Amino acid sequence: MNNPDVAKQLDVLRSQLNDYNYQYYVLDDPSVPDAEYDRLMRELEALEEKHPELISHDSPTQKVSGQASDAFTPVQHEVPMLSLDNAFADEEFSAFDKRIQDRLKRSWTVEYSCEPKLDGLAVSILYEQGLLVRAATRGDGQVGENITNNVKTIANVPLRLRGNNYPQRLEVRGEVFMPKQGFEKLNEQQKAADKKVFVNPRNAAAGSLRQLDPKITASRPLLFYAYSVGLVEGEVEALANRHSERLQQLTIWGLPVCKEIDTALGAQQCHDYFAKIGQQRDDLSYEIDGVVFKVNDIEVQKELGFVARAPRWAIAQKFPAQEQMTKLLEVEFQVGRTGAITPVARLDPVFVGGVTVSNATLHNQDEIHRLGVKKGDTVVIRRAGDVIPQVVSVVSHLRPEDAENIVFPEHCPVCESNIEKLEGEAVARCTGGLFCGAQRKEAMKHFASRKALDVDGLGDKLVEQLVDQKLVKGPADFFKLDVAQLANMERMGEKSASNLVNALITAKTTTLPKFLYSLGIREVGETTAANLANHFLNLEALKEASLEQLQEVNDVGVIVAQHVFHFFREQHNLEVINDLLDVGLNWPSIEAKSEDQQPLNGQTFVLTGTLQTMDRNQAKAQLQGLGAKVSGSISAKTHFLVAGEKAGSKLTKAQDLGVEVLTEEELIHLFTQYS
Ligand code: IVH
Repeated sequence: MNNPDVAKQLDVLRSQLNDYNYQYYVLDDPSVPDAEYDRLMRELEALEEKHPELISHDSPTQKVSGQASDAFTPVQHEVPMLSLDNAFADEEFSAFDKRIQDRLKRSWTVEYSCEPKLDGLAVSILYEQGLLVRAATRGDGQVGENITNNVKTIANVPLRLRGNNYPQRLEVRGEVFMPKQGFEKLNEQQKAADKKVFVNPRNAAAGSLRQLDPKITASRPLLFYAYSVGLVEGEVEALANRHSERLQQLTIWGLPVCKEIDTALGAQQCHDYFAKIGQQRDDLSYEIDGVVFKVNDIEVQKELGFVARAPRWAIAQKFPAQEQMTKLLEVEFQVGRTGAITPVARLDPVFVGGVTVSNATLHNQDEIHRLGVKKGDTVVIRRAGDVIPQVVSVVSHLRPEDAENIVFPEHCPVCESNIEKLEGEAVARCTGGLFCGAQRKEAMKHFASRKALDVDGLGDKLVEQLVDQKLVKGPADFFKLDVAQLANMERMGEKSASNLVNALITAKTTTLPKFLYSLGIREVGETTAANLANHFLNLEALKEASLEQLQEVNDVGVIVAQHVFHFFREQHNLEVINDLLDVGLNWPSIEAKSEDQQPLNGQTFVLTGTLQTMDRNQAKAQLQGLGAKVSGSISAKTHFLVAGEKAGSKLTKAQDLGVEVLTEEELIHLFTQYS
């Protein structure tokens, strides 16, 4: 092949790869599987290797280029990079909105661009004649650092703009961040390699960008979202007069922009947007710490101008901080249902993530070690969304002289049985089994819980009282309680007691999967219980099953098989079962299902978001009844994602992986088809 032919072929390959990248990262709509992209990339690499003289600066292979001598050298921002004022409540935003109207001496409804405040690092990327020529950090707003080669490695940053109507010089500003999933994975790798773990995605993003070797940056899962235009020179016609339209234009030029960005008219719509994003926050694939509101009209922005280092036309409304410092006063050891001993930090109460926190889990002995925490230390507490509060780190320079080591107990704090820690397991356990009061209490709560026997009105607090007062020793005792006994309990009366007795009678008729789940066998969750029931069809067969037979069950490996096997060989467990059968627990027998009664056999489903007409557990049970496997996470092996309302990162991932997405309506249609 002569050079012009090769050049043409290279052009075709590059533009195809650029198109695929654009579809994947900007449009969120990939048209080919990853493997096809990889194949073309390899083809391009091979061809460029043979013709190095034809490698262009914007070739997709040039995302990782050699070490640059200008790394971290100062970059003067031609247009300063400003920061933002903060608001911490709706009222503060309303005051900001009012200030704008007062200043403009007009009473009107201001239109805002509403943007999630990404928790990463502000970066400026300069394109000249459409080619990425320089990237810099914000620095002090006037002078930043050159990080061109590192930014070029970021997967969704285009090396060349698309189209042809872009300004000769265009500076795009935005945030470089690390998505939550990538952050978790990176930390796992860091841990496995005995390297420092990052405290949060923001730090991980910062650490990843500040690398002398761009290959390291390239190996980190960073992404970029553009949120404004800085310097513009040359053709500016394509730039609209509304900020939101400018962002739209940036996507046409190939730049990724956050999908959650919207516009709002007036303060009330902004409050609504803030509340909506707050609700979606946990499901977003990236961390945010608030919402940025910007006056949408660029002329009005200019009219309003700046004060000190922040614009008058924008404000960041922050969510309550998710991390705070406080003092660790004491450590107590809790005993869980399976005997697991969990160290719990008692804290000087602190307001974090929107609530007052006075306890945080320390997980296990290894975690105490890893944190190097002592009693009396000042610690950083994190509470994100509904996740239980965690101790993130120790503020070591604030350690008092009398800080005390945390000593892990050798005996159960509740029943004094030995505590044992098996080789290779992080968790230490009380060996007391159901003789241990704490384990018994937890087992009883589990038995009554929603996914188990689902006894209406038998909540955790009531179970605790009943166990403490020795009215119930085993689960069968619940069914022997009378109205008078129950009416005597705290927050109970005749009516609720009699309702509960009725609920207990109803709960006696259950299903084999629920019954198995309610027994609290280690590692046997809802799905495993259903698999065991559907495989063995009756309790007797399961009780007699050998280790080998147990492992024939869908998704049951050696460990689960051992737990089940040993459970049915413990006399006290068999007694619990017999007592339950004696008080009348029963379930309809399961008929062996033929192939055509299991039409979804071999199909894997994942459920996400809120379903309107049923709860997720019901949908799951129904799918399993048709033979489907229901998994908690999406992978390339997933066949269908059922996406309810407010579906978040799973939906994005499914789309990325090309997994078929079903609406609730389509799911219902599927059920009716097979019923
Ligand atoms: S606009 C003059 N938009 O927040 C406007 N900033 O506290 C300056 N940030 O340094 C920034 N998401 O790192 C803007 N959608 C967004 C943002 C955003 C995150 C960060 C950015 C900035 C900091 C200001």
